[in-house]
Amino acid sequence: MATKEEIERYQRRYETGDTPWDSGRPDKNLVNFLKTAQLSGKKALEIGCGTGENAIFLAQNGFDVTATEIVPLALDKAREKAEKQGVSINFLVKDIMDEDIPGKPFDFAFDRGCFHHYKTPEERLKFARRLAQHLGDRGIWLCLAGNSDGEKVHGQGPPKRTAQEMVAAVEPFFEILLLKSGEFDSNMTPPPRCWIMVARKRKSGPQK
Ligand SMILES: C[S@@+](CC[C@H](N)C(=O)[O-])C[C@H]1O[C@@H](n2cnc3c(N)ncnc32)[C@H](O)[C@@H]1O
Repeated sequence: MATKEEIERYQRRYETGDTPWDSGRPDKNLVNFLKTAQLSGKKALEIGCGTGENAIFLAQNGFDVTATEIVPLALDKAREKAEKQGVSINFLVKDIMDEDIPGKPFDFAFDRGCFHHYKTPEERLKFARRLAQHLGDRGIWLCLAGNSDGEKVHGQGPPKRTAQEMVAAVEPFFEILLLKSGEFDSNMTPPPRCWIMVARKRKSGPQK
């Protein structure tokens, strides 16, 4: 579960506008993925949706979207944007680590910069397991996570994960279809490196 300190830290960043991840547009990696993705349905779950750019893009593309956050202020901003753009999204203040998210099973899960902030292998395993529990059979997760091969050129920059850390957390619950090095769609120059991971929920539970 996100600690009170973590929630307050993110809350302060949204209050002060210290949100370098918030590019004001949907991430091109999501946009490109959806051009060719073969999903079993259009029920989407976004974890850690921030101010909603990607959730809004999904809704505009015919998805029935549930989008969660631990910071109510981020969701206020997201709701305002969604209303302005005339799209309906089920925004919820929920922590997937410990709370069930209504609406499961989902066909598609998306996270940009949420999974990567978990520091320990146990937390990352838990995140992947909890996410799998919210997907239907063979549901797909697109994860954009900081990549440890990136240069640390933006002060602290996004948290960075190794390929090994990604695989160790995800593989027990998902078949990894793609793990590719790329770039966040970012206003920073140069944009931070990321992992683009596409994973399909295993049909028969965790891999032994
Ligand atoms: C780096 S920001 C990215 C926000 C958004 N995905 C974007 O790309 O603009 C990570 C977000 O995840 C949220 N977050 C962290 N842990 C979470 C959790 N367990 N459940 C939901 N949101 C979480 C934080 O509050 C923060 O808004």
